[in-house]
Amino acid sequence: MKKLSVNEARQADAIGSSVKIQGWVRTRRDSKAGFSFIELNDGSSQGNIQIVAPGELANYESDVKRLTAGCSISAVGEIKESGGRGQTTEMLADSIEVHGWADPETYPLQKKRHSMEKLREWAHLRPRTNTFGAVARTRNCICNSIHQFFQEQAFLYINTPIITASDCEGAGEMFQVTTMNLDGIAKQQIEKLNYRFDFFDKPSYLTVSGQLEAETYACSLGKVYTFGPTFRAENSNTSRHLAEFWMVEPEMAFFELTDDMDLAEAFLKRIFADALSQCGEDMQFFNDRIDESHTLIERLEGIVETDFVRLPYTEAVDVLVKSKKKFDFPVQWGIDLQSEHERFLTEEHFKKPVILYDYPKTIKPFYMYCNDDDKTVRAMDVLVPGVGEIIGGSQREHRLDVLASRMKDQDLDIEEYWWYADLRRYGTVPHAGFGLGLERAVQFVTSMANIRDVIPFPRTPGNAEF
Ligand code: 4AD
Ligand code: MG
Repeated sequence: MKKLSVNEARQADAIGSSVKIQGWVRTRRDSKAGFSFIELNDGSSQGNIQIVAPGELANYESDVKRLTAGCSISAVGEIKESGGRGQTTEMLADSIEVHGWADPETYPLQKKRHSMEKLREWAHLRPRTNTFGAVARTRNCICNSIHQFFQEQAFLYINTPIITASDCEGAGEMFQVTTMNLDGIAKQQIEKLNYRFDFFDKPSYLTVSGQLEAETYACSLGKVYTFGPTFRAENSNTSRHLAEFWMVEPEMAFFELTDDMDLAEAFLKRIFADALSQCGEDMQFFNDRIDESHTLIERLEGIVETDFVRLPYTEAVDVLVKSKKKFDFPVQWGIDLQSEHERFLTEEHFKKPVILYDYPKTIKPFYMYCNDDDKTVRAMDVLVPGVGEIIGGSQREHRLDVLASRMKDQDLDIEEYWWYADLRRYGTVPHAGFGLGLERAVQFVTSMANIRDVIPFPRTPGNAEF
């Protein structure tokens, strides 16, 4: 017996075929005429398929009439044209087999709508809801277009380490990895740990970014990208921060800041365009049911067509100061822009994505290329309405002497980054790259308000359940 996914069985070309479909019951409705309608979903699409279960089925009374939300079944039958509204096809079942029951007294996903907060407590079952199915499919589409975009341009996909001894962003927000018996050490009240007894003979951490390692490969192979999990122990309980998130980091030799911005803009547009063209039904769902103003599709279509604004940090500060708007954090040259400032620029002032560049060197990491003014570095952040910073990138400092002095300024020991310095010693080249936070991109494409709802199992302060 040929198996079809629910999505395949919903298409007109399935009409007339006898097939098996399998999934989880959303609802069951009994007709007075002695048969039942079952709405079935298997995650392959937003829409369900309706199964008509005739009263003649041998297990009609014993099984079919006991089906409730969450039960898993196989149904065999013919796909017919449907007279029902909003559906092309339905199945007339010849047999229905129940794989697993779901006690309606305790199954959490009953017909009633649950809050996103409540659904987080059932992160193992929430993918069965319309919203989380749609998010999972859209996230998958975005990951696929990320790989396609870079593969089509001959970037090499490389895997950078998850365990590392270097703090790329220099913010000290790293999770330490150890095999030492910390309880034992605490008991002995040892003041200074001897890392000779630890697994790597030195302090090591979960990576905050694969950039430094990606730079080494870019400086041999030209264009590379890494795409993997990254970890930040920042204690920020916001709707934009996770302790574990996925980052895509392309790194390109012989690229300067403008090339980097061009690539970032083309890359984002490609991701948005693919989501619009490949996730039609789910995007419609986000537009109608998740987006507050129901303009998501129109907005994304607009962004794919429009040029992003490009503005030096210094001019952005001018715009903010001249706006006369009352911000919680007052604006002056040299501050790190807060999300209220970023939102003003993208949502109120320019009303589109903005790439800010040439930031003060004091608020950016050591590895960024220092401009001739000796005050700013060739950094660029892509800001989008609603989400704020979605991409952070820069041209890298490829001059050994400047790098060394920047590291000194930031109290970093260049000896510990000897391999990073070697790239500047042997055949150094201008190079650049950026990092896109995958979850921020998914948030932007779906309009989901909280980043915890666009990753299957969110890790945040105090939360590592599942
Ligand atoms: O701006 P960030 O810190 O840049 C880097 O890590 C560079 N090494 C990237 C590079 O040039 N190769 O982070 C990049 C992006 C941010 O713009 C944001 O989208 C995302 O990663 N991000 C987070 N996403 C979720 N939760 C967090 N705690 C995040 N921190 C950064
Ligand atoms: Mg950043």
